[in-house]
Amino acid sequence: MSEFATLLIDGKEYKLPVIVGTEGEKAIDIRKLRQETGHITFDPGFGNTGSCQSAITFMDGEKGILRYRGIPIEQLAEKSTFVETAYLLMNGYLPDRESLTRTSVMLNDFSLLHEDMKFFYQNFPSKAHPMGILSAMVNALRSFYPELIDLDEDVNRTFLRIISKVRTMAAVAYKISRGHATVYPRPDYSYCANFLHMMFDNPVIPYRMDQELVDALNVFWILHADHEQNCSTAAVRVVGSGKVNIYAALSAGISALWGPLHGGANQAVIQMLEGMQQNNLTPAHVIEKARDKTDPFKLMGFGHRVYKTYDPRAKIMKTMCDKVLKKLQINDPLLDVAMELEEAALNDSYFQDKNLYPNVDFYSGIVLRAMGIPTKMFTVMFAIGRLPGWIAQWREDALDPNQKISRPRQVYMGETIRDYIPMDKR
Ligand code: SDX
Repeated sequence: MSEFATLLIDGKEYKLPVIVGTEGEKAIDIRKLRQETGHITFDPGFGNTGSCQSAITFMDGEKGILRYRGIPIEQLAEKSTFVETAYLLMNGYLPDRESLTRTSVMLNDFSLLHEDMKFFYQNFPSKAHPMGILSAMVNALRSFYPELIDLDEDVNRTFLRIISKVRTMAAVAYKISRGHATVYPRPDYSYCANFLHMMFDNPVIPYRMDQELVDALNVFWILHADHEQNCSTAAVRVVGSGKVNIYAALSAGISALWGPLHGGANQAVIQMLEGMQQNNLTPAHVIEKARDKTDPFKLMGFGHRVYKTYDPRAKIMKTMCDKVLKKLQINDPLLDVAMELEEAALNDSYFQDKNLYPNVDFYSGIVLRAMGIPTKMFTVMFAIGRLPGWIAQWREDALDPNQKISRPRQVYMGETIRDYIPMDKR
């Protein structure tokens, strides 16, 4: 039985259809609202607005639930690999052994960059932020590789080419920023192992691969792989809705992710913790600043538009933190600072009243430090992980018969009509 919402405007009733999702979420369909009532809705930040119907990721912010194609994130983090999870997100089902092997072989085949792309890096200042480089390089891929004309062709080649090359791009950016020789991928290494190899191997000091870190990197990227209609995914969908090539849409997603309120928070958390350490700031100091309405400071790694309880990814990341540091016998003082700050914030009325909990970014930086990843590369690590999600969402949008070019309306608050004033009269 279809459901309706009734809207009463100026004494007239309007019946608006209600769409019910497979998990029982309800949405009022306002596609005909302006045409029927002359009104639009107003929802800055789109906190109450559904932009699409999607079958990729389900989140329940009140219960702290996250599932990719119906599979709980906890099971994927424990049992899957990043390549398998990427396949699940992009195709909608787990691969059989042959498909997974074929996927790994294609990722390996696509792992080199066109040698001409190396020259692009030479023209960035050495201090250029790797997110700016990555966004530019991904956009440049369109100049080297074919556009996806229709989605019936073998889209997997394009998707896997992007996922493989972006990982290589990130490692090349790091090596060149250090003035080190770039390292080519190895055919006998997995996707994650090859990233660590390309980042840290060098001709005179071979990198000793540690399976513990390879496993941690798999989990790290699984946790970041998708998150329904977050800021950067929304950017990919909005830019993609203009029917631009996928490389440009993904480049827009990378740019959106860079912001400290979004993916840039993982870098900002470490900088916040380092600042506390260097300036002998206690958790109480930082929490006081976060509570102060006149202070723009936000407690980085805390709060979330959707999660009003502990981010399920943060729980897994925190456990992984302990495990990796113990296994590698690393004593990172920032972990102690982070845990003290978390404890203080979770027991503070401001954070309790506003349902502010640690999100995925709060502990992720500690794990990345344990892997030897420099702070400036943290958001790049997030971007590599989010690629399969962005690609899956881009594809779903492109195939959605209901989708149109994204073009929100506005409520105009400016000057009403007035005449031009000649210069001698101003
Ligand atoms: C990611 O959307 C996604 O799914 C994103 C992501 C993904 O996987 O794609 O999960 C990744 O971006 C995680 C978030 C990383 N960002 C940070 O850690 C930065 C710090 N967090 C805040 O800036 C904030 O919590 C946001 C940006 C994450 C959410 O912003 P909202 O939706 O505006 O927050 P809200 O509506 O829940 O805020 C309610 C109140 C507000 O105060 P009042 O207006 O009620 O007085 O809580 C305050 C906010 O100012 N608040 C904070 C705070 N977060 C919210 N106050 C201090 N410190 C914070 N961290």
